Amino acid sequence: MNYKNLLLSVSEDIAKVTINRPTKLNALNSETLMEIEKAFNYIKNEDNIKVTIVTGAGEKAFVAGADISELKACNSESGKTFSEQGQKVFDLIENLRKPVIAAINGFALGGGCELALACHIRLASENAKFGQPEVNLGIIPGYGGTQRLSRLINTGRALEYILTGNLINSEEALRIGLINRIIPNEELIHKAEEMAKLIASKGQIAVGLALESVLSTNNLNQSEGLKLESELFGKCCGSEDFNEGTTAFLEKRKPHFKR
Ligand code: COA
Repeated sequence: MNYKNLLLSVSEDIAKVTINRPTKLNALNSETLMEIEKAFNYIKNEDNIKVTIVTGAGEKAFVAGADISELKACNSESGKTFSEQGQKVFDLIENLRKPVIAAINGFALGGGCELALACHIRLASENAKFGQPEVNLGIIPGYGGTQRLSRLINTGRALEYILTGNLINSEEALRIGLINRIIPNEELIHKAEEMAKLIASKGQIAVGLALESVLSTNNLNQSEGLKLESELFGKCCGSEDFNEGTTAFLEKRKPHFKR
């Protein structure tokens, strides 16, 4: 599969998507966004891929936002479409039912922060910088930032970052729960791969259903969510993976899951 602005590699059951426009700090122009969509549709349908890592090319940026030179042409109508297109791609990532780990290797601003927010686990290098600086351009975050940031770090904090446009370093991002871990720059990809392999070694039915159940908190109230959790728990119990996992435990051996 040919891509102009991203690299997609698959090794064993781990895919790596690298946004690859380093001279523009990996800013997301429409072509790149379409390629991200294409790559994630491929990953979704490829049974051999269990976990995906997303990162940015170069040492400076994960993604420095939507491409401002394209964005500048938007009017109120095309701006709405611009936002909807980004939201659609990031929804695809969040709802992939396969884990996506963001390995954030530098600036994650605007659409870059929103891309990280759509991933399920965020690992950041020591030099990573986060922010929703759209207010400096006279706009609001439009690729899901107003929604996902406030759910992740709470409304008050999200409003502070969205209203001031201030950047957040990785220490602050860890403290407020925006990221899961800080990793030394040179170890970031290795640690992301280690985590991806660990998750890929688990029963993938349970992994997919855990994602579905946890992410349902975005749409369901607690009693609806608990109902869904029981349904999905039952589904797990009907799977071969469950039989293998429990049998392996009782036989004091490692489980061999089917997929
Ligand atoms: N859209 C388009 N181009 C971008 C970009 C973006 N979001 N972010 C960076 N670039 C481009 C710059 O225009 C520059 O291109 P050039 O070399 O052709 O002039 C190149 O990437 C390098 O960026 P530069 O600004 O020179 O690097 P820096 O180290 O001085 O600053 C940032 C880094 C991230 C602080 C700065 O680039 C920035 O503020 N970017 C915009 C962030 C933003 O507002 N994102 C939200 C967009 S909705």
